[in-house]
Amino acid sequence: MNAQTPLITDSITAAISAKEPSVDLIGEDAPFDASQRDFLNGLLAGISAIAAGAQQGGEVLTPMRVLYGSQSGNCEVLSKDLKKAGAGHGFGADVSALDDITPADLAEMQHVAIVVSTFGEGEPPDNAAKFYAALMADDCPPLPASLNFSVCGLGDTSYADFNKCAADIDARMAELGATRVAELVKCDVDFDDDYAEWKTTLFASESFVSAGGTAAAPVVDAEPQAMFDKNRPFMAQLLTSDRLSGEASAKCVDHIAISLAGGGADLEYAAGDALGVWPLNCPDEVRALLAAAGLTGKEIVTLKTGQSTLKAALATRLDIQTVTPKTLEDFGLEAAEGQVLEVVQAAENVGPQQLADALRPLQPRLYSISSSPKAHPGEVHLTVGEVRYDLDGRDCKGVASTYLGDRLAEGGMLGVYVQKSAHFHPPSDDTQPLIMIGPGTGIAPFRAFLEEREARGATGKNWLFFGDQHASCDYLYQDELEGWAAKDHVDLSLAWSRDGASKVYVQTLLEERGEDVFAWLEEGAAIYICGDASRMAVDVEKALLRIIAKGLNADEEAARAYLDGMAAAHRYQRDVY
Ligand SMILES: Cc1cc2nc3c(=O)[nH]c(=O)nc-3n(C[C@H](O)[C@H](O)[C@H](O)COP(=O)(O)OP(=O)(O)OC[C@H]3O[C@@H](n4cnc5c(N)ncnc54)[C@H](O)[C@@H]3O)c2cc1C
Ligand SMILES: Cc1cc2nc3c(=O)[nH]c(=O)nc-3n(C[C@H](O)[C@H](O)[C@H](O)COP(=O)(O)O)c2cc1C
Repeated sequence: MNAQTPLITDSITAAISAKEPSVDLIGEDAPFDASQRDFLNGLLAGISAIAAGAQQGGEVLTPMRVLYGSQSGNCEVLSKDLKKAGAGHGFGADVSALDDITPADLAEMQHVAIVVSTFGEGEPPDNAAKFYAALMADDCPPLPASLNFSVCGLGDTSYADFNKCAADIDARMAELGATRVAELVKCDVDFDDDYAEWKTTLFASESFVSAGGTAAAPVVDAEPQAMFDKNRPFMAQLLTSDRLSGEASAKCVDHIAISLAGGGADLEYAAGDALGVWPLNCPDEVRALLAAAGLTGKEIVTLKTGQSTLKAALATRLDIQTVTPKTLEDFGLEAAEGQVLEVVQAAENVGPQQLADALRPLQPRLYSISSSPKAHPGEVHLTVGEVRYDLDGRDCKGVASTYLGDRLAEGGMLGVYVQKSAHFHPPSDDTQPLIMIGPGTGIAPFRAFLEEREARGATGKNWLFFGDQHASCDYLYQDELEGWAAKDHVDLSLAWSRDGASKVYVQTLLEERGEDVFAWLEEGAAIYICGDASRMAVDVEKALLRIIAKGLNADEEAARAYLDGMAAAHRYQRDVY
């Protein structure tokens, strides 16, 4: 081979970097016979075509839309996975929240995959609410049959309206004329397997197979694979667990500090993110369940994750409280009052494997992070309300909240992961005014916001609406909040529902200060709500709409449009549960 002879590697490099697929990159002078040259030219033209497509924004990839509606982040994570999977099947997917499009936009699309959760009591997540309302409206325009879609829902079988939002969207899109290419899948809290099966069915559907790009582009994973995530939690150390609420309080709220030392980049968080915590069940409850079933716990059972003793499975792997439709079916019951314990007490001859099969896997719980990493490097703080209640005379408790607040000793280890929040962060503009409404444990992210804004030296003014039952025993973070108020870092509006003759809630104070609230909004303030979804967040929104209508001197429709505009600009955000 002389100096002028092109190297085969040079030819391949040239072919791959060529913008246009070219023929005859292997020249006459290359050291190949005619048939070898033809073969190599064909091969390089093919490689070049794929590379050119990938380089030019995926010309060989068929456009696809992945749409998600997600409140606590699960569907958003899955939407990114779908995009990657799409590339492997010849699709170049754009990912967006359902509220970023309208039903009219849908009519322009041909391949659509939707992953959406259900929140509240059968409601859509916040970032799908506008789309959902428009799709369900009587005047929603028809959809073309050329729109090929499938829906995967994330939900929880312990809710009455299991996966209602996904089911409604699926049914309505078909009713409006779009073509369902793969059946709706309604996933429970352990959604990994059902989601994976749905994804396989979707990409194996005739419509997706025939439309997918003929040449699969190389799948390049731009984001490095996380070492720690929901399914591979970081084992962190519990530093402290201190009671925040006073002895006289009806509630037990704890301040939890966890060390993130050794967690690395995957455990880095921002104010506004949540922490996922993998709890263990209470040993007393495990013992009670084994006794009710007449089992020792030493029996070997098979779970999806492998074999285990029944006792270990009940302590660490299975949800031993929630009765699902499968639990009832497995025990041959139509309906049941109470939890798994009551079902097992009512059943006869419970087998160890039958019990393990009837229970769904234990799931992690999310907690809004109540610290700024700038104020507490290497640590994460939570504000946890212990769930305790009476069920027909039996003392019951929440799994994770009492594990954190009661059972896990300081110095003990627990599995955690960071659940990033898309937009629920302090405004990036440090001069922007901020109104925060967070009664009870809803204070959690706002303690983090106030720490963060203080550490950043943000000059934007802060106004916090906080409250609970009694000032004397429910005033969480009192010293810190009053310290900040004394430094003019925050204005405090405190609502104590059981201290006066009449009940005062955060929404009561919000309306009392309605004129000032509206003036702040007109100055460009962002308004964030955190805490109870079922009553507080609903009542606060109603109060806000009345305040805005009054401020605009307009009707509720105009106020709704104003608030929708704020939401679209991420100036109105909720972290509610
Ligand atoms: C994004 C997000 C952020 C969150 N942030 C926080 C936070 O900052 N602080 C916080 O404390 N929590 C927060 N939560 C709630 C938290 O995730 C848990 O749901 C909560 O701690 C309860 O979990 P648990 O395991 O203790 O209770 P579980 O074991 O899940 O038990 C709760 C269940 O018990 C049953 N139950 C409860 N009360 C009764 C009753 N009176 N009668 C009959 N049944 C009853 C209900 O079925 C209920 O669903 C957040 C949730 C989300 C989604
Ligand atoms: C406050 C709250 C209310 C919920 N309501 C429902 C419901 O009505 N129906 C349902 O199927 N799932 C319900 N779920 C379960 C969620 O849909 C499920 O956790 C899902 O995985 C969340 O996905 P996301 O993180 O993408 O929002 C609820 C969860 C929470 C925390």
